[in-house]
Amino acid sequence: MTDATQKYLRSADYNTESSAVIAGSVNSNVRLGGASIPLCFERAEGPHLYDIDGNTFIDYALGMGPTILGHAPKVVSDAVAQSLSMGQMFAGQHRAELELGKLLVEHIPSAERVRIGMTGSEVVQAALRVSRAHTGRKKFIKFEGQYHGWFDNVLISHSPHPAEPGEKLPVPREAHLETRGQSRSVLDDVIVLPWNDLDAVRHTLEEHGDNIAALITEPVMCNTGAILPRKGYLEGLRELTREHGVVLIFDEVITGFRLGLGGAQGRYGITPDLSTFAKAMANGFPIAALAGRRDLMDMFGTGAVNHSGTYNSNVPSVVASIATIRALAADNGAALARAEDMGKALMAGLAEIGGASGLQVSGVGTCFNTYFGESGSVIDYQSYRKTDQARQKEFLVALLANGIRPTARGTWFVSTAHDQTTIDSTLDAARKAL
Ligand SMILES: Cc1ncc(COP(=O)(O)O)c(C=O)c1O
Repeated sequence: MTDATQKYLRSADYNTESSAVIAGSVNSNVRLGGASIPLCFERAEGPHLYDIDGNTFIDYALGMGPTILGHAPKVVSDAVAQSLSMGQMFAGQHRAELELGKLLVEHIPSAERVRIGMTGSEVVQAALRVSRAHTGRKKFIKFEGQYHGWFDNVLISHSPHPAEPGEKLPVPREAHLETRGQSRSVLDDVIVLPWNDLDAVRHTLEEHGDNIAALITEPVMCNTGAILPRKGYLEGLRELTREHGVVLIFDEVITGFRLGLGGAQGRYGITPDLSTFAKAMANGFPIAALAGRRDLMDMFGTGAVNHSGTYNSNVPSVVASIATIRALAADNGAALARAEDMGKALMAGLAEIGGASGLQVSGVGTCFNTYFGESGSVIDYQSYRKTDQARQKEFLVALLANGIRPTARGTWFVSTAHDQTTIDSTLDAARKAL
């Protein structure tokens, strides 16, 4: 047994006991693999996680992105606690959901109307459905390496086999199903393209535009490498989709309320037709939103297009979202700006101490990725997969052993609770890990 596994004995015991009742001892497949054994946690506070073995971690996984204010912020916990006595759901409306709706319309540039849902996966489905209804077309474009939830029609080419050395992949790519049991029929509706390649989009729209309802993209490719859009790329997507009557969907489930109060669309000044939000909008309480153009969104309003859900707009989640957005918006967004500065300092520190070892740092302050490869070589999924994945994994295991927990994919989320002390401790630990 290695020193590292000795540190997680109680988690290992927990997994053994749990796997007799919970399939694989986890409740989301994302938690199965990763840089270490699945850990069992006791509690979390601010930027810290505490596991049942007594280990403390500085957390950069942040629940896979949601806890933008850090764990258990009083402002959110108190608001939710106070709301509990008013009831949780009414199968009808309540005032807090209107308040949240107004906040979303105020902060999200493309939001003329909104609908509130429960998860990112669900509101992505609503976006695709209304795009089909609006255009009368069937197919949609998605990009290799991007993730839009776990449902059959979008769980495609998130992590396909990378090209062999010298192999030239076709454009569009061959669409790749990600799980056994997935219906093959979904392949008829999707076109998979490499990201950051405007020509690929242009040619595809010229050839198949008449049958394409929507183009869905993460505006920053947070699910693979935290890769930034090339200069002019998002603008190009906006122009091309408009030209061909295709609905442009920004999937801001990660970037929303993290890259800025107006998400990536606010940051880059590009207005999509529809956009999806979840994660950071309620600091860990389950909620999501679809926002967009009035004429599209009103198709839900008239009942022409179905969007439903028993738990949509449940009181605790709505109240948590209002408290989170208000905290982020206070003092002209000061907390988020500070988190971004902390993140930038961490990115710069990691680049400095890891530069000689080939460590690359890509992304923005509040969401970035670390990998080992050639500087400037990563622009899309295939180039990311050419980086040294084995070394990346070793680095992540070593970070964990030194009390630092990014996600198992090497993504680092920074919250408003990470301060200079946590950044300094993180850099010390990263030095040891390297
Ligand atoms: C960009 C993006 N879209 C959609 C989803 C799905 O969201 P959820 O896990 O809430 O269903 C995720 C989840 O990580 C995501 O990163």
